[in-house]
Amino acid sequence: MGFVKVAKADEIVPGAMKHVEIGETEICIVNVEGVFYAIGDRCGHENARMSRGSLMGTIVTCPMHASQFDVTTGKLMSGPVLELDGIAEKFSGCPENVRKSVGEMFAGIVEEQRLIKTYDLPVYNVKHEGSNILVDISAGR
Ligand code: FES
Repeated sequence: MGFVKVAKADEIVPGAMKHVEIGETEICIVNVEGVFYAIGDRCGHENARMSRGSLMGTIVTCPMHASQFDVTTGKLMSGPVLELDGIAEKFSGCPENVRKSVGEMFAGIVEEQRLIKTYDLPVYNVKHEGSNILVDISAGR
């Protein structure tokens, strides 16, 4: 397929990210101080859209559980922040049967969350040609 035009460069100012799609591949275009990067736009944890997260330098933070990835490599830098432990205590004013049910439900979710692995994001070749940003998804790594 080769390089495909996905955006105008001036749509993505320095420090910004933009979601684009080539076929079924969801891509996050990132502008780090005028240098463009292209990474997969689905978090390696639970699939949140990375382009809706935040960017600090070359580190993008997932909007859902705050996993962090380096946009230059796609590598996971820090894992998700899961804050469900102890949430059942917030229902302390509820009747015993409600507290018990809520506690069991959240204990199950916490256990399942701990078993989820967080994967690196794919990185795609990107080039800035004239006013256009082009991405080649055939060589994702
Ligand atoms: S979905 Fe991204 S950290 Fe959970």
